[in-house]
Amino acid sequence: MEDKMGSECEGPEMSLVCLTDFQAHAREHLSKSTRDFIEGGADDSVTRDDNIAAFKRIRLRPRYLRDVSEVDTRTTIQGEEISAPICIAPTGFHCLVCPDGEMSTARAAQAAGICYITSTFASCSLEDIVIAAPEGLRWFQLYVHPDLQLNKQLIQRVESLGFKALVITLDAPVCGNRRHDIRNQLRRNLTLTDLQSPKKGNSIPYFQMTPISTSLCWNDLSWFQSITRLPIILKGILTKEDAELAVKHNVQGIIVSNHGGRQLDEVLASIDALTEVVAAVKGKIEVYLDGGVRTGNDVLKALALGARCIFLGRPILWGLAYKGEHGVKEVLNILTNEFHTSMALTGCRSVAEINRNLIQFSRL
Ligand code: FNR
Repeated sequence: MEDKMGSECEGPEMSLVCLTDFQAHAREHLSKSTRDFIEGGADDSVTRDDNIAAFKRIRLRPRYLRDVSEVDTRTTIQGEEISAPICIAPTGFHCLVCPDGEMSTARAAQAAGICYITSTFASCSLEDIVIAAPEGLRWFQLYVHPDLQLNKQLIQRVESLGFKALVITLDAPVCGNRRHDIRNQLRRNLTLTDLQSPKKGNSIPYFQMTPISTSLCWNDLSWFQSITRLPIILKGILTKEDAELAVKHNVQGIIVSNHGGRQLDEVLASIDALTEVVAAVKGKIEVYLDGGVRTGNDVLKALALGARCIFLGRPILWGLAYKGEHGVKEVLNILTNEFHTSMALTGCRSVAEINRNLIQFSRL
C-alpha cells in the first residue's frame, strides 16, 4: 500500500538541527501519498502557508539585564504540570510513518513530560497506547459520531484508561477538500483500530469508517458534560463569537486552530485569530493554539499573545518518520531548547513573565 512505509524509522545518522530539517528529511524519505497526506492543506493551501507566514510578521521586543542564568520552561495545563508549553496535537494514522505508530509518539511524550492528544483516528488501539506509556499525560480527541451511544462508549473507555481531558474537534463536520488525497485515493488504504472494541481483531478500513456528525450544535455539549467528568476542550475555534459561546457553555478550554489549514481554506492564521479569542474569554478558561509553530520564537509569540501552551501537528509526524520515538524526542527537545533560548534572549525567566509587551506587530 505505501511503498516506503515502515523503513523511515531507521533513518541514517545525520544532523537535524531545527524542525524544518525534519520536514526536509520526511519529504525525501516518505512515499508520495504519505507525504501528501501529511503536508496537504485544503483547496489552495492559503491558510496552511499563512499559519507559518503570520508568525514571521510579528516582531519581538526584548528586555535585557534581567539575570537569565536560570530559565524555567515549566507550566501547567488543566492543573497538570508539563515540562514546557509544547505539546502534541492530535493527528491520525501514525502507523503510516512508523510501525509502532502512536505507541512511539506516546513514549516520546511521556519521556519529555508533555501532553499528547491522541486522535480518534489513531492507528493503534487506545489500550496499546496506554500500555506503551502508562505515566504520560494524555488527552483524547473526539470526532463526534452521529450515534450518541457510540460516543458514550468511547468516552467511558477513554476515561477509564486515564485520559485527562476530552478534546472535541469542531471544525470538521465535513472533510475539507484535500486535492492530493483525492488524487492519491488515500482513503481506500487507511485503517483504524480505535473505534472498535479492543477485543475485536480486525481493523476498520477508513473509507468504511462510521461518519462524523454533521449536526452537532452548542446545545449538544451539555449531553457530553452529563456523561463524563473529564474537562472538555473545544478544538478549532477562530472567532470571538464562538469563544464567548464556549465560555457560556462551561467548557474548560479552547484550542485556537484551523486544523493546520486542512479544513476551511482562507480562514485566519491561528496566531492571527488568537488575540480576539483570548480577549473574548477574559481569562475564564485556558486558551491553547496549534498551527504553524516551528521555532522557539513562535512558541514565545503564542504565549505572549495569551496561549497557555501550543500543540504541534506535522512536526511530530516528521520526527516519527525520521526515527520513531527518538525522532519525536529530538523534535521536542530541539523546540524546547529553542524556546529556552528565546526566553533568555527576551529576558523571561519563567513562563509567567512572558507577556504582551514582548510583541510588536510588524508593518512589513
Ligand atoms: C491533523 N489534524 C487533526 N486534528 C484532529 O482534531 N484530529 C485528527 O485526527 C487530525 N489529524 C491530522 C492529520 C494530519 C496528517 C495533520 C497534518 C493534521 C490537525 C492537527 O491536530 C493540528 O490542528 C494541525 O496539524 C496543527 O498545525 P501544524 O502544527 O501541522 O502546522
